[in-house]
Formats: sequence, C-alpha cells, structure tokens
Amino acid sequence: MPHYLSCGQVPHKRHTQFRKPDGGLYSEQLFSTEGFSNEYSLLYHLHPPTGIIKTGTPIDMQPQVAEEKMLRHRSFEGFKIAPAPDWLKSRVPLLVNGDVHLSLAAPQESQKAYFYKNADADELIFIHEGSGTLKTVYGALAFGYGDYLCIPRGTIYQIHFEGQSNRLLIIESFSPVRFPKKYLSKYGQLGEHAPFCERDIRTPEALQTIDERGDFIINAKKKGILYPLHYATHPFDVVGWDGCCYPYAFSIHDFEPITGRVHQPPPVHQTFEARNFVVCSFVPRLYDYHPQSIPAPYNHSNIDSDEVLYYVAGDFMSRRHVSRGMITLHPAGIPHGPHPGAVERSIGAKETGELAVMVDTFHPLMLTKAALEIENEGYTMSWAK
Ligand SMILES: [Fe+2]
Repeated sequence: MPHYLSCGQVPHKRHTQFRKPDGGLYSEQLFSTEGFSNEYSLLYHLHPPTGIIKTGTPIDMQPQVAEEKMLRHRSFEGFKIAPAPDWLKSRVPLLVNGDVHLSLAAPQESQKAYFYKNADADELIFIHEGSGTLKTVYGALAFGYGDYLCIPRGTIYQIHFEGQSNRLLIIESFSPVRFPKKYLSKYGQLGEHAPFCERDIRTPEALQTIDERGDFIINAKKKGILYPLHYATHPFDVVGWDGCCYPYAFSIHDFEPITGRVHQPPPVHQTFEARNFVVCSFVPRLYDYHPQSIPAPYNHSNIDSDEVLYYVAGDFMSRRHVSRGMITLHPAGIPHGPHPGAVERSIGAKETGELAVMVDTFHPLMLTKAALEIENEGYTMSWAK
C-alpha cells in the first residue's frame, strides 16, 4: 500500500476548525475505503464537495458479453482497437468477470470538457504508448511508456495526453488494488525480498488549488452506468490533504526481476493483487543459469485461474506470431505451454527482452462482442504439429 503522505496545508488536529484567510471554514472531506475500515485520506476543500446543481441523462457503459462460457485458448489483436477522440468512448472492455474488467483504449484527445470518477472500481492503467499527466484532486502525476497508474475508486480525475497516439491497457478492479501481501512486512513496508520498493512509487505532485465557480461535469460511473453530475465549483479546490489513499504511478521498468538457476514460476513476477486476481510484470531479464536449464516455461495446468497475457515489447520465445498489443487468454481447465520447437530453441539462450503484463483471474473471464471482433482465428490449434 502507499504510505502516509501529507500535501499542502492541513490543520494540526483532524476534525477541528481550519479557517481560510477570510475567516471562513475549509470544508473537510474524509475519503475512506472499504467502509471506514481501511486506508483513507482527509481533504480540505475551499467549497463543500457536495454542491450538485444539475444531473444529466445516465448512459449505459456496461460491457456487452458475447461468450459467457468457453474452454479454448484465445488470442486477440489489441492494436486493432480503433483510436477514438474521447477518453470514455475510447475504452473498450474485452474480458470481464465479477472481480475485474480488462479493457483496451486508444484515446486521441485529452479530457477537457469533463472530469471522470469510477465509483465501482480501482483503475490500474498500463501505458503502452503515449505520455501525459494524470490530473487529480490530490495533485498531478506525469506518466509515460511502461507506467502503471493506480487510481483508487472514487478519485476524480482528468487524463491529459501529450500526443494523439496513445495505447492503454485498463484493469478495473472491483476490490482494492494492493501490493502483494507476501512482499510486505507485518506493518506494511515493502521488504528487501520484494522486486520493488517505496522509492519506486511516484506520488502526486504540484497540488493546484482552483477556486472557480461555474458548471463542472463529473461523469461518475456506478454499476456500469455513467451519471453526468454537474457541480457549481471546480472539483480541484483542495488546499491540502493527508493520508494513505491516493493515486500513484509505478513503472514496469523499475520492476527488478527475480531469477534463478532453474525456471522461476510466475508468482516471482507478481506486482499487484486484488480480490480473486493478480497482476504480474514480465520484464527483460537473464535466463536460468543451471548448466542443464531449460529457459522456456514448462507446460502448465493452472487449473484455478484464467491467464491473460498482454504483450508489450520484445521477442516472446515461447510463442509464435506474437505482435505488440496482442492478448492471449489461456483458460483454467486445459494446459498450455511453449509452442512446438520453442523448448529446444530456448536452450542456451542467456537473456530475454520480453515485456508483458499478465493478469491471472481466479474466476473465469467472459468475452465481449468487441473481443470477438479482434480475435485471431485458429489460435486454439496452434500447438498441433
Ligand atoms: Fe502460462
């Protein structure tokens, strides 16, 4: 978990009088998670964050599931997702279940006309292409290629891009996204054995306090429905905040791989965990150094988890015909492994330049209509000689 941060002005004691230069009170907001039982932050606004002046027509954003049940290996061409100007319209859900939605997006324009809040899910946004700034009520986070942006549910934000060419993998988690428990000390510090540490976590900077009145639209998503809520004051009117709930960035390039004499199992690549799924980072690394080692992975039957791999860059030794932005889905219930010839070919290889994000879900994923439209036919049979 991110640790305690304090930014801007906060009063000496929580829940006490904190006054503006004109004598008026700042408006305190407790932003808590999992009821009032987990990480929280306290924010101090110029204006109460409750001033709705109008509500717009709700818009249905629920994914259209086309295949609820299946038992086949699948593969999809992620870069076939068409670019779209608008941030929300660009997001295309592909693989979904009750714990997580996996979407791809190629947004072309910065969000300027509205703010966005996902009231359902934490968002973990992986930046495959593009750069820009995530603007939030907590401050700004600059991002670029290889960053994971972790945005707790309920965070009001705008995403601004530097260019038009952006490719993102969006992981919506219906439970809090956390660092894996196995990496943490009893009281939450990332241990010496973890593949990254607090120093690698980038936190919001340059808190801007905007005192503006007008008509500010926050598009809030709840149960898959988007509700346009109009507020009378700018949402980024915070003079200070502190606590442990805030968005942060972590670069996949700062993930230090754990290697061994023989093939290491996928959990060594684990980066995040949430309820019923994990996220792993496969990064460039030296291969196993036992004299008889086989660098290619063994065939495996992950009977309890669907395995999604999103290919970012580099050469994927165990697979044929891999393209950037490709997604493979190896469902629980049937084994998968290297393509024919890949095991022999891997022997003697010293290193890999592969970069990929893996999501293992403990409940089966369903496929959307959009996923079927970008599917590579024949992948299921691609292991047969
Ligand atoms: Fe696998």
